[in-house]
Amino acid sequence: MHERWLNERQQEHYYRLAKKKGFRSRASFKLIQIDRRFGIFSEGDAVADLGAAPGGWLQVAGDLVGDKGRVVGVDLRPIKRLGDITTIIGDITEDSTMLALMNELGGKADVVISDMAPDMSGNYSTDHARSVHLCKHALGVCDRILRKNGKLVMKVFMGDMIPMLMEETERRFTEVKRHSPDASRPSSSEMYVIATGFRANVKVKMVEEKEEKARTFTIKGELL
Ligand SMILES: C[S@@+](CC[C@H](N)C(=O)[O-])C[C@H]1O[C@@H](n2cnc3c(N)ncnc32)[C@H](O)[C@@H]1O
Repeated sequence: MHERWLNERQQEHYYRLAKKKGFRSRASFKLIQIDRRFGIFSEGDAVADLGAAPGGWLQVAGDLVGDKGRVVGVDLRPIKRLGDITTIIGDITEDSTMLALMNELGGKADVVISDMAPDMSGNYSTDHARSVHLCKHALGVCDRILRKNGKLVMKVFMGDMIPMLMEETERRFTEVKRHSPDASRPSSSEMYVIATGFRANVKVKMVEEKEEKARTFTIKGELL
């Protein structure tokens, strides 16, 4: 009961603050808090924002990289226009979306941020597995577009596959930390992986991903 009350109070606080500051989502505060603590963005950075709708993180990233920076957002859902920020409607697990992202960035990214979340089933382990699947794709995006020494911030729902995900992340980055910003709901199962010092050009297997994707399609096919 106390936890629910705390949750509601906290969400109400961030909801009001987001309205007051003109942010599109309360999630903006999580990225602000992460940046203050870990120093993610620099002026002039090129940023890829995965799972960017409705645009709260885009607003924060756009502001922090300034006029000389470049921010490109990707989401399954359309994002209402936000100044000169480019947005792509697409599924980041699809090659065509990946290519569109590479085209729009026009070069390497300094930072990849991912707040992607699957449609929630309500089943803890299913939601965890889907979240990890999206994170693996975020790592795949890093392999293709992140510059050496670049940074990654990505959300994941907690569960038993976290050690495997951390291992995959540590293979690519020199420093990897877990973090829960104050703006996350106290009861939330989400956490953020903060990774810096992208090694670039490390040989990584994406085979597993392809197999997983193929399996997903088979299951879908049987159900239809
Ligand atoms: C929590 S919301 C992001 C909120 C955003 N960071 C903000 O501040 O407004 C998660 C988003 O991930 C997107 N998403 C989930 N799977 C995706 C995928 N495969 N490709 C692209 N976007 C995806 C969802 O459509 C959803 O809009």
